[in-house]
Amino acid sequence: MRQRGVKHKDEIVKSCEAWLAKDPKALRGAWNTVFGNDRPIHLEIGSGKGRFITSLAALHPEINYLACEGGENIYVRILQKAAEAELAHLRVIDEYIIRASEYFAEGELSGIYINFCDPWPKDRHAHRRLTHHLNLEEYKKVVRSGGFIAFKTDNDPLFDFSLEEFRTAGLEPVRLTRDLHSSPWAAENVMTEYEEKFSGLGKTINYALILLP
Ligand SMILES: C[S@@+](CC[C@H](N)C(=O)[O-])C[C@H]1O[C@@H](n2cnc3c(N)ncnc32)[C@H](O)[C@@H]1O
Repeated sequence: MRQRGVKHKDEIVKSCEAWLAKDPKALRGAWNTVFGNDRPIHLEIGSGKGRFITSLAALHPEINYLACEGGENIYVRILQKAAEAELAHLRVIDEYIIRASEYFAEGELSGIYINFCDPWPKDRHAHRRLTHHLNLEEYKKVVRSGGFIAFKTDNDPLFDFSLEEFRTAGLEPVRLTRDLHSSPWAAENVMTEYEEKFSGLGKTINYALILLP
């Protein structure tokens, strides 16, 4: 996702700093202290401008949310949305998460959302895809048993690749569709910015949900 420089970025970040998770690796194993309660924590990796996670947080005050976005001019948009909506149960991690287990202790998360992640189309970059099996092994460590990994993409080759990677990691989707918006799960779906763009162009959306054994 490209984003031009954000005007007055430093001022915006300062005014929204209560929503920024500072030194996130140091919070490994202690994320509940950030939220001040023991409610489940759901993470989105690659939140973009944050429409999905802030909309979800507004619907679910009983869940704590972490939006992770490494793009330095992009995460600011999430901070702004979280502050405007006064979402006390959401924090923003302004880093690229490469190894999830460096940020979260075993079973510390109850779910991970991966929405319209970068496809990295060249074979030699396959390991960078968020659904590569080595990344899935990281998610298996940090998501508790019974928790979930939810994945949406417009990119059919990436979806096919991801289904293979789920198999390699021993993960079986309990929900699987190549047309989410016509599926039984459409009513509960919360759209992302990319989802709105690509479905608006007529592209069907792929969706898989995995429950951790
Ligand atoms: C294609 S955009 C999709 C954004 C949003 N999820 C949506 O559906 O509208 C992918 C975003 O993920 C971010 N990203 C990619 N890898 C990441 C990682 N490992 N950790 C955090 N952010 C990441 C990129 O900076 C980019 O903004």
